[in-house]
Amino acid sequence: MRVVKQIPEMQTLSKEFRNSGKTIGLVPTMGYLHEGHMSLMRNLRDQCQVRVVSIFVNPTQFGPNEDLAKYPRDFDRDKQLCREEKVDVIFYPSSQKMYPPHYHTYIQVENLSEVMCGRSRPGHFRGVATVVAKLFNIINPHIAIFGEKDYQQVVVIRQMVNDLNFEVQILTSPIVRETDGLAMSSRNKYLTAAERKFAPVLYQSLLEAEKMCQRGIQNPAEIVEKMTALLNKIPQSRIDYISLVRPETLTPVEKIQGQVLVALAVYLGSTRLIDNIIIKGLLK
Ligand code: PAF
Repeated sequence: MRVVKQIPEMQTLSKEFRNSGKTIGLVPTMGYLHEGHMSLMRNLRDQCQVRVVSIFVNPTQFGPNEDLAKYPRDFDRDKQLCREEKVDVIFYPSSQKMYPPHYHTYIQVENLSEVMCGRSRPGHFRGVATVVAKLFNIINPHIAIFGEKDYQQVVVIRQMVNDLNFEVQILTSPIVRETDGLAMSSRNKYLTAAERKFAPVLYQSLLEAEKMCQRGIQNPAEIVEKMTALLNKIPQSRIDYISLVRPETLTPVEKIQGQVLVALAVYLGSTRLIDNIIIKGLLK
């Protein structure tokens, strides 16, 4: 396994892979790898000949009051996990190399970036789109895979890929959960023991939404009300949003019919957790 820190070295290596006819698959990450990331790597295994994992805590997707400085990092452990998974290359650039002084170019995917998570994290998806575009340009992968936990991120990236004619195929992988239902996330590490105990309520509220749809409830407001009641039982919590939207466009649904993305963000103390589920309304 090769660890590449320099951008020109990564570009040359990718050209060599392509010239020798190898399909390159990319797993973009911010490190502190967990089972969710490992499942992305595994799901890419049969799709390509070379797997590149990028590890870069991207400063431009953090707001001024967010957790950039304390975001968990453990490169040695990440390296070991990638080695065990037989990853071919880790791309591990520095912030100075990715964003040198006088860096000026950003990608804004309009509308999709402003709803849901974008409302409470202004600039977040601008940072995500920018770094992912840079990674695509540097690594030039044939395929890139993203987790469905960050569903809005996937929608934003697909839009950017279409709009800017990137020749990369975007794959997604289902959310990986702890046995009690909590979606895996590097941020789960911030939860206190008490918060961790209540964290599975997020997924329980999504399952409740699914059950209500299966019972034929078609009014999104009824579902939001029920989910709010469940989530408000978590001590020291604050709901950031609960959204019922079309999965492709993120536009709010007025009636539960066809596929609906139910997505939420909730603060447990100072930790903001997100989760989602795709449900299928009864056709009436
Ligand atoms: O999902 C993440 O970990 C990040 O948003 C990504 C896609 C690696 C961009 O920094």
